[in-house]
Amino acid sequence: MSLFNVYPLFDITPVKAKDVYVFDENDTKYLDLYGGHAVISIGHSHPEYVKNISEQVGKLGFYSNSIQNPLQIELSKKLEELSGCVDYQLFLCNSGAEANENALKLASFHTDKKKVLSFKNSFHGRTSAAVAVTDNPKIIAPINAQQSVEFVALGDLEAVEKVLCKNDVCAVIVEVIQGIGGLDESTTAFYQGLSELCKQYNTVFIADEIQSGFGRTGDFFAFQKHGIDPDIISMAKGMGNGFPIGGILIHSDIKASMGLLGTTFGGNHLACAASLSVLKVLEDEQLLQNAKDVSTYFKEKAKTLPNVKSIKGRGLMLGLEFDFNISELRKKLIFEHHIFTGNAKNPNVLRILPPLTIQKHHIDVFFEALQTELT
Ligand SMILES: Cc1ncc(COP(=O)(O)O)c(C=O)c1O
Repeated sequence: MSLFNVYPLFDITPVKAKDVYVFDENDTKYLDLYGGHAVISIGHSHPEYVKNISEQVGKLGFYSNSIQNPLQIELSKKLEELSGCVDYQLFLCNSGAEANENALKLASFHTDKKKVLSFKNSFHGRTSAAVAVTDNPKIIAPINAQQSVEFVALGDLEAVEKVLCKNDVCAVIVEVIQGIGGLDESTTAFYQGLSELCKQYNTVFIADEIQSGFGRTGDFFAFQKHGIDPDIISMAKGMGNGFPIGGILIHSDIKASMGLLGTTFGGNHLACAASLSVLKVLEDEQLLQNAKDVSTYFKEKAKTLPNVKSIKGRGLMLGLEFDFNISELRKKLIFEHHIFTGNAKNPNVLRILPPLTIQKHHIDVFFEALQTELT
């Protein structure tokens, strides 16, 4: 049987990883500035993470959501403490798309409306409603296209109001910093205005923090910089440091009822153990502060590079926009310098999404490689 061939692959086979390094079957060591697409938050194979998951699987790996699971409650408490999101309820699932799918469904239940407003260049996942609100017609199948969605430019409040004023929109979904779209972020005035318009027109404000959440920007959630309180916050990626877990934080104004949402695997014991370990290490090792410090250092160094058109993003969700297509540069970084990086929808943007444990000396290695290739 062959694999269903949907991924363009680099010919590298990692067999183990430790902190910010990945090793292939020949024991070649790669510096991981990609974090498996912003997933590795506390570093590969962190001892605390390995210990907690191993102990949990030895006791109870899974049981269904029809029994008590105190680990879910512990996770909700710790999440509230570290994120500062105090007036929310937690629903757990398994991935980013599933988190957005539940967020959109809940918004529709709550408002009894069905249209969604999304933004140009957005990415929210590949399942039913999540892909329909993603601005990429190539991945939207006819079965997804039946959803009612409008796209406006990020930052265009006037266009938002023109859509919302018809009073048929259940949700606005936004990545405060766009991920694969290329790291664009609008102003505080825009996000606050968006939040006000959502209140005015009874529309649920969904912040997609799947990539930017769990400390990646140096704040626990990226929206926190803008002083807003979304109605629903979707999370995944860094939440489990590689263990599949997603979730939504739901404002207390939105009420639960039996059977409204559900999942077999979501919030299982192993997933909770993984996410609790992530939160413990983020706190113990002060990784949000580290993300900010290393980010400042990165941006200073980036200013000294030739050909850089702009330095994008914040925290450890960063991008370098060049005046050329970066695909060859990215290959050279991997195969000649043994450094993993990411790309974006904009072919000129090289993305940097490392584990939040990264140190300044790792950044030096990256810039030495770039200097070699660019000068
Ligand atoms: C902002 C954002 N939303 C949603 C998703 C979908 O997450 P998943 O691939 O876990 O379904 C992603 C994945 O890249 C993402 O970056």
